[in-house]
Amino acid sequence: MNCIQDWPEPIVRVQALSESGLGRIPDRYVKPATERPVGMDPMGDGDGIVDIPLIDLAGLFSGDPAMVRTTMGRVAEACQQWGFFQAVNHGVPPYLMDQARHVWREFFHLPMEIKQEYGNSPKTYEGYGSRLGVEKGAILDWSDYYFLHYLPHSLKDHKKWPAQPPHHREVMEQYLGELVKLGGRLMKVLSLNLGLKEDYLQNAFGGEEVGACLRVNFYPKCPQPELTLGLSSHSDPGGLTILLPDHDVPGLQVRKDGKWITVKPAPHAFIINIGDQLQVLSNVIYKSVEHRVIVNPNLERVSLAFFYNPRGELLIEPAKELISPENPALYPPMTFNEYRLYIRLKGPRGKSQVESLKSPR
Ligand code: OGA
Ligand code: NI
Repeated sequence: MNCIQDWPEPIVRVQALSESGLGRIPDRYVKPATERPVGMDPMGDGDGIVDIPLIDLAGLFSGDPAMVRTTMGRVAEACQQWGFFQAVNHGVPPYLMDQARHVWREFFHLPMEIKQEYGNSPKTYEGYGSRLGVEKGAILDWSDYYFLHYLPHSLKDHKKWPAQPPHHREVMEQYLGELVKLGGRLMKVLSLNLGLKEDYLQNAFGGEEVGACLRVNFYPKCPQPELTLGLSSHSDPGGLTILLPDHDVPGLQVRKDGKWITVKPAPHAFIINIGDQLQVLSNVIYKSVEHRVIVNPNLERVSLAFFYNPRGELLIEPAKELISPENPALYPPMTFNEYRLYIRLKGPRGKSQVESLKSPR
């Protein structure tokens, strides 16, 4: 099954291309006309009206039953109708969010020779990378990234984390510890909102030891942003994603009713979204929604995508409690390891995988 050994072509760092000062992007990055970001709204101002829901999570911890109910209701609505929301007062200290983003920005600005020591391969994707998918000749995205494992402990390997800048590992250990806690709290809210036992989703993901990993995206400045994408349209293959966006450079677009909406990041908010495994577990009550990233001619952008996932070897299938003769299971059971091979081989392709796996009805 796992026969991917190496990249099909020499790797080009998009940051190096960008810094070379070229006026036109190479053909490899030019998207077909139908995928280009037409009607671009690079600063996310748009008409200023439509955006994903913004939810103050302080209500969950307020101890006031009416506030708790209202907040849970807002989360339920967002998961069903948008698959996305921004959260403030989520419990992760703002200074830690800023530090985490800062140490990664510093990493990407280290000399190339240092970064190359961490160059990744498609076998595990861990380390410094510049493409998703191994198809020779594929059109590529305008970004570099760094991928690492945090949980289960057996997969965490500090040697594969950057040793620079100083304090990088300490900051990331603290930050990822906080995000695992936040992920666990959200699992409870999502379970209860589905009418399941509070610990249902956590147990389905592996209980104490879930899967948790991080992809840090670096989107360099781009001389022709209208022709390419920083990250092509995809849905996240995992459970729940907690994204720390760049504080002042928008770029993430979410698909809603066939239109692309540019998210305007709120100060110290996380952007939280449902991944494919929660769409499967909830039997499509929760939606794993397509999103993509546009790039900017004048500004680079850094984002930290934290993935709270099922452990790789567990079978994921729609919760029995949500299945009835009127609501048959829409997906067959599959392990997450098997599931995520698809994006690792083919790269980001909208929602084609989760759609193709639907049981025939
Ligand atoms: C991702 C992702 C969005 C962003 O890494 O899966 O969708 O804003 N990132 O970088
Ligand atoms: Ni994503």
